[in-house]
Amino acid sequence: MYFSKIKATGSCIPLRTVTNDELANIVETDDEWIKSRTGICQRHVSIGEDTSDLATGTAKMILEKGNINPEDIELIVVATISPDYNVPSVSCIVQKNIGAVNAMAFDISAACSGFVFGMSIADKFIKTGAFKNALVIGSEVLSKHVNWADRSTCVLFGDGSGGAFIERSEKPGVIAEDVMSDGAKGFALTDARCTPSNVFNDVKKVESVEDIKIRMDGKEIFDFATRRIPKSIKKLMEENNITADDIKYIVPHQANERIVKFIAKKLKMPVEKFYLNIYEYGNTSSASIPIALNEMFEKNLLEEGDKIIISGFGGGLTWGSMLIEI
Ligand code: UT7
Repeated sequence: MYFSKIKATGSCIPLRTVTNDELANIVETDDEWIKSRTGICQRHVSIGEDTSDLATGTAKMILEKGNINPEDIELIVVATISPDYNVPSVSCIVQKNIGAVNAMAFDISAACSGFVFGMSIADKFIKTGAFKNALVIGSEVLSKHVNWADRSTCVLFGDGSGGAFIERSEKPGVIAEDVMSDGAKGFALTDARCTPSNVFNDVKKVESVEDIKIRMDGKEIFDFATRRIPKSIKKLMEENNITADDIKYIVPHQANERIVKFIAKKLKMPVEKFYLNIYEYGNTSSASIPIALNEMFEKNLLEEGDKIIISGFGGGLTWGSMLIEI
C-alpha cells in the first residue's frame, strides 16, 4: 500500500492589501468591529490577477521548491469557487502555463473545504496506484464575487492561492480523513453567479447584478462550523488512536478567529495548537489552508514525522478534516 506525502508547498498572494480602515471608507464599519468579531486586520485583493494567475504562481513556487520537472506531474487538481471561466478550468490553464503536458487536470468546487477535498481526491489516485503524484491547489479571487456594498460579507474575504505537491511514498503521508457534505443547508452561503435555468424562455428572469454576489447567513455558518468541526477532528483522532498530544498543529480554514477559539475550547485543546494567520489574509476560502501550510513550512514550524490535522468547512455545506504525517 502506498501513502501520498507532501513534497513541497507554495503560495501566491496579490501584493495589494486592504486594511480595515480602508474598508471603513466604503461601507459603514470600523477596525474595532472587524477585528473583534473576526480577527481580520487586512486582506489581499487582486489588482488584475485572475484565479489562474495566482494558481500558476503557486504552482511555479512549488516546482522550484520541490525541484520538480513539470513534465513529471501526473495530476493537477485546483479547488476554486472563483474560476476565470467555466471552461477552460483553472487547472487546465495552470497545466498550459507550467508545461505539465503529461497531467490530467480538473477543478473541483467545495468552497472553503476545497483544499481538503482536493487532497482527498488526489490521495485516492495515488493510493490506488493510478498516479505517482499530484499538484493540489486552492486558488481564489473572491473580490470578483464580493458585494462591496454589503458590510456583513465584504469585510471577511480575501484573494490568494496556495498548494501542495504530493507524491507516492512508502512512509505516511496522508493517514486518514473525515470528509462530508450537507446539501440541505447549502443556501446558508450562496454565490449566485449562474442565471436561472429557464433564461432562454424568459430573459427577464436574469437576476440583477446585485444578486449575482456572495450572500451568507453568518450565524448559521458560525454554528455549523463550531458544531461540525470539533466532532470531525475528534472522530479522526479517535479512529486513529491519537490524542491531542500527538498532534503538532491543527491547520483550520481561516474563516474567523472566534470560530477557531470555539473549536479549540470544545476539543479542550490549547488554541496555540491551531495555526492562525487570518489577521493578514482574511478568509481566502479554498486557499486558506494551503497558504497557512506553506507559511508554516517557511517558518520551520513543521518537521518530518510531525502529525497535523488540516480542517476545512464552508459552502455546500461541506467540511472535512485530514490527518497528515509530514
Ligand atoms: O468560510 C466559511 C464561510 N463564512 C464563515 O465562516 C463566517 C461565519 N460567520 C461569522 O464569522 C460571523 O457570523 C460574522 C463575522 C459574519 C458576523 O458576526 P456576528 O457576531 O454573527 O454578527 P451579526 O451578524 O450578529 O451582526 C451583529 C451586528 C448587526 O447589527 P444589529 O442588527 O445588531 O444592529 C450587523 O448589522 O453587527 C452588524 N454588522 C456590522 N457592523 C459593523 C454586520 N457586519 C458589520 C460590519 N461592521 N462589517
